[in-house]
Amino acid sequence: MEKVIVFDTTLRDGEQSPGASLAVEEKLEIARQLEKLKVDVIETGFPASSPGDFEAVRRIAQELEAPVITALARALPSDIEKAGEALREANHKRIHTFIATSSIHMKHKLRMSRRQVLSSAVEAVEMAKQFVPEVEFSPEDASRSDLAFLCEVIQAVIERGATVINIPDTVGYCTPYDFGALIRSLGENVPHLEKITLSVHCHNDLGMATANSIAGIKAGARQVECTVNGIGERAGNASLEEVVMALATRRDLLPFRTNVNTTEIYRTSRLVSRLTGVPVQPNKAVVGENAFRHEAGIHQDGVLKESATYEIMTPASIGLKEGELVLGKHSGSHAFGERMKRLGFRLDSHQLEAAFRRFKELADKKREVFDEDLIFLGEEQTFRIPEVYVLEYIHTVTGNQILPTTTLRIKKKGKVFQEAACGDGPIDAAYRAIDRVTGMKLNLLDYSLHSVTGGKDALGEVMVKVQVKGGMVTGRGASTDIIEASAKAYLNAINRLIYREEKKGS
Ligand code: KIV
Ligand code: ZN
Repeated sequence: MEKVIVFDTTLRDGEQSPGASLAVEEKLEIARQLEKLKVDVIETGFPASSPGDFEAVRRIAQELEAPVITALARALPSDIEKAGEALREANHKRIHTFIATSSIHMKHKLRMSRRQVLSSAVEAVEMAKQFVPEVEFSPEDASRSDLAFLCEVIQAVIERGATVINIPDTVGYCTPYDFGALIRSLGENVPHLEKITLSVHCHNDLGMATANSIAGIKAGARQVECTVNGIGERAGNASLEEVVMALATRRDLLPFRTNVNTTEIYRTSRLVSRLTGVPVQPNKAVVGENAFRHEAGIHQDGVLKESATYEIMTPASIGLKEGELVLGKHSGSHAFGERMKRLGFRLDSHQLEAAFRRFKELADKKREVFDEDLIFLGEEQTFRIPEVYVLEYIHTVTGNQILPTTTLRIKKKGKVFQEAACGDGPIDAAYRAIDRVTGMKLNLLDYSLHSVTGGKDALGEVMVKVQVKGGMVTGRGASTDIIEASAKAYLNAINRLIYREEKKGS
């Protein structure tokens, strides 16, 4: 079976999802998990776009060993220099440079002629070759470009040393029929295309990103660009888990293999959702919470008799072991540490101690602690935004006949603040009380709550998205008490904001 290279762009195109911006340490955390997932290439950022992106690319390049680390650069000398510099210490490195080739982009966005675009493309590739052995070139908006011009540009950049040619359906305009035909016609019209790796990069504006990527692979592409949970610009990118599981499930039709360890898919999906603050829709293919749930009695009966009746892949194949009871209130620190190791966490003694303390608190409130809970506790320790504001205490009085009131105590650098407020509900009251303590004016854009595991005593995880003058920030918090989880999520957003401002200033 031929191999399809999996190129993950969660940290670059995925991070372009509204509100999904990640701190450097969070990007590192996701990159480590992508290495465990065994993707072949990780696009780590766009170094010229901000100092934070530069730093994230540099740190990931320094630390990760196995995957190819790539960074995006416009076809501009200053961008390419920055990308080359950020990638300097990577074991395996690649610069991904791009310029638009469609008439609409060249005329209105770039205000450049075809000749100017062609020479910028070749100059960019030549320059990138001076920094790295692997150079990927993308003709942006390829799917809406004139075919003859597209072929001319591709041929020219291959002659100058491009090793990967990526064909983006930038605005998600294609259907599988025309996208497949485009990839096939490149094979027919560009000489020596077989010498380089042909790649596809599909956006999901018409909900066809996965189908288009598969059509591209069938037509000859051997690299597929995608993001975890399909996050990305506008409607997002082709979703990694969908593409990989489609290839794994339909080998009869698609005789290709990938290097991905599919049993890390669920874990990666959760981590990306948690750190970006972008929830996964319940009916999302492969990783949505309903993806393996059977509601109709006939279906449940069928699955109990033989899971293949209604399941085309198993939950275990994506690493979902639902409902596995692991530890209880009386479990000791040794058993806890061993379990965390088996779940893949490398916690130092402080982190392990803190996680164990949280586990005991949780086990006191919850009768049963599941793997999902432990993963949550482990992830909480692996990277924490420094907590400037810490919730010490929260008390709520609420009901359908009284004015909901929340009293809380918050600590900031050793100083204790106590406040109370009324609101439309207990959460609104808590947020008003927090606003009084911090003196910040935040606009709550989005609030979501989901349970980490099943059961009435489950950990509730709250994600919030708030708007401030400088942009958007997400926050999350968890507790068996959802009011407490809500307050923690709001404070987490505030702490992230402070952290972001401090980083900007440093
Ligand atoms: O969608 C797109 O065209 C891109 C390019 C930078 C590859 O993301
Ligand atoms: Zn894109």
